[in-house]
Parts: sequence; structure tokens; C-alpha cells
Amino acid sequence: MSDQLERYLDFRFGEEVHRRDFLRLGLTTAGMLALAACGGDNGAGTTSDNSAAGPDFKVGMVVPQSKTYAALGQSLHDGFLLYLDKVGGKAGGRKIVVMQGDEEDNLPAAQKATQALVEQQNVDMICGYVASPIADALCTQYLAPQKIPTLVMNAGVNALSRAHKSPYVYRTSFTNWQPTHPMGDYLNNQGVKKITLAYAKYGAGIETAASFKETFKGQIVAEVATDWPSTVDFSSAISKISAAGADVYSFYSGQDAINFFKQAKQVGLFDKIKFYGSGFAVEQDVLQAIPDAVPVGAVTGLHWAYGLDVKENNDFKTAFQKKYNRQADVFAVQGYDTAHVVVDALNAVKGKLDKGSPDPFMQAIAAVTFKSPRGDFKFDSNSHNPDQSIYVRELKKTSSGLVNTVLQTVPHVVDPGQ
Ligand code: PHB
Repeated sequence: MSDQLERYLDFRFGEEVHRRDFLRLGLTTAGMLALAACGGDNGAGTTSDNSAAGPDFKVGMVVPQSKTYAALGQSLHDGFLLYLDKVGGKAGGRKIVVMQGDEEDNLPAAQKATQALVEQQNVDMICGYVASPIADALCTQYLAPQKIPTLVMNAGVNALSRAHKSPYVYRTSFTNWQPTHPMGDYLNNQGVKKITLAYAKYGAGIETAASFKETFKGQIVAEVATDWPSTVDFSSAISKISAAGADVYSFYSGQDAINFFKQAKQVGLFDKIKFYGSGFAVEQDVLQAIPDAVPVGAVTGLHWAYGLDVKENNDFKTAFQKKYNRQADVFAVQGYDTAHVVVDALNAVKGKLDKGSPDPFMQAIAAVTFKSPRGDFKFDSNSHNPDQSIYVRELKKTSSGLVNTVLQTVPHVVDPGQ
């Protein structure tokens, strides 16, 4: 992990939860827990063939239900439930029940939600986390030390695949290094010589910028980092980007991306310069919210593309649209794949997971492989993170709406974590 990020994490702790108080906080927080969906219902009213003999398998899901990344949390949750539908809501002879807590966009809230699920609801495992500093802190200081099986569903913080790696924490999404690393080479090959880096100034944005610098050979003419999650007014960032005059490489997501693009559109910023970045900024959550303000022609890197034309993706997009009446996005894919991992692992151990001795279940998680909407899914054993393709995508306006289409596939992009 970079010194800069390490300092950032220390700052966040100092600001909100002092490290030594961490484990003492939030022990009586049942009130804020939002209990939600039950995986046993397949949406068609045909819950199961009642062969779920064991006790319910309780998944505690902590994702944002409010604030900057609320839409991401919704998609993660919805994707997860869609996969459970597919298997009748059970695995290893147990009905899978999902209990939710709100990550919001800050550590104290996410910590309370997590502790309530673990200490009051007695969940069997935790799935969740969208924001890097939150996932890093909770996995490293709360979940892993208690050997609570954890699947990180989004947050890309590199450390969880490197210095903070744990046998009890796997990730179904990406590292912040991953979607961007091939993009520097792509821009070099396109002859791009000058870039302005624009990003949210916290773990994910900082690590995205660092990854880009590893491969981009041109000049970084300006670096415009906006406070996160507090920035709503991007006008000064937009002025700086405009003054620098170079194309942009970026990290923004969720409501940040919406605010940034809306304000950039008002001054015609992307009429003059090109938008590159990690692909979250132009995912379907943003495209469906502000179709007229997004930079058509944007070229971004990500581990999935709406336009990826493989059967698993086409089936997934159709089922998601049918159930939720909106387009799927990368976060929905991650939720769907996380449930797939849980189901396959639980089947492999025949429903057996002993609290305090989760090693067989974790080994079953590590061994799961399948065909995902994103392509072949498998964990890299060094980084506990997917060994996956990164797609270089171009945002195109098509007869069926705005679609990220695949320009290039870079196979087996594996985080360098050892
Ligand atoms: C992160 O904080 O790791 C993060 C958040 C939102 C994204 C991607 C990464 O879309």
C-alpha cells in the first residue's frame, strides 16, 4: 500500500474512530439494523422443495443503502438475490437468508451495522463493502481476527490482496490496481501524450491514479483530487481540468460521477477533451440516471461491459431487467457472482460451517470456478481476488441506448499481491 494511502487511512481512523477504541464501539446497535430480503423466495412463489433440512444460513450484507454509493449497494443486493432465485434460495441443504445493514459512506456507520449483524444476529458470514477504507478497516481489525468468513463485494483497496490479506477474506470484485493498469498501455498505444488525473481523494481514487502512473508513459499535466465523500460542487475541479487542457483519466463512481458529469456538461467540458478512466463512472447506474449528460465516446477499463456478448451475460442482463425493470451494471454482476460463490462453497461443504473453524468453508470458497457474466470466474490464490479479463470499453449511443462496447480484451489481469 502506498504511504499516501496509509496516511489517509490513519487520518480517517483518527477523525472518526480511534484505532484503540475500535473494538469497543457500537456493541449495542441493534436498532439501526435493517433486516431485509430472504433468499428463499425465488420471486415466482416456488420457494423450495422443502429439502432445506439444516438451519438457515445467515448472510450479513453490509452495503450502502444511503449516501454517495446507495445505487451501488442496491445493485449488489439485487444481483445477489437474483442468483439466489436461480438456485431456489438454498445450498448445502440450508435456506440462505440475507440480513442487511447500511454501510453509508463512513466507518462508524458500517462498523455498527457489521457488529449488529455479527454480535446480535449471529450471521454465518459477511458479504459486502463498497468503499475501500471501510472494507480495509473492518476486514483487518474486526472480521479477520474473529475468523468470520467474508466476501468483499466491491471495495477495491489493494491492501486486502497484499499487506492485509487474510485467509478469511476473499473478494469477488477487483483491486483498485486492476481495471486501470492495462489502460496506461492502451493510451500509450493510442498515442496519448498528456493526461490530467481527476479523482475522488480517498483510497479508491488514490490507488487508481497510482496504478495509471505505473503504465502511462506520457506526461501528467495536472492532478485534480476532490474531497470524498463531501464534494458536491465540482466547479473548481472542472475549471482546473479545463485550464490544463489535456484529456482526463479519472476515478468517480455513483452520485459523485452523476454530479461531476452534470456540471461538466453545463460548460461543455467533454466536447473539447476526451474522458478516460476506470469504468465505474460510466456504468449503467450513472447512464440511466443522466443519459443526456454522460460523455459519449468515453473509453474506460473494467472487468465487465454491458455490451460483452457472451451467453452468461446476455442471460443475466435479461433476467435482471425482467426482475428489477432496469439495466444491470457491474455492481449487479458482482452481487450475482458473490451469491454464486456462496452457493457453490456451501454445496461443496454440504452445508457445514462451524463457527470459529471456517477453514474448510474458506477452502471451498477459494476453489470455486464458474462462467460468470464477466467471463471465466476464478480466484487467484495469491491475491484472494479474481484472476480476470479487463475490458477496454467505449461508450456508444446505439439504437438500444447507451452501451459500453468492448474495444479490447486484456486477459488474466492479476493483482500483483503475493
Ligand atoms: C472503492 O472505494 O473501493 C470503490 C468505490 C466505488 C467504486 C469502485 C471502488 O465504483
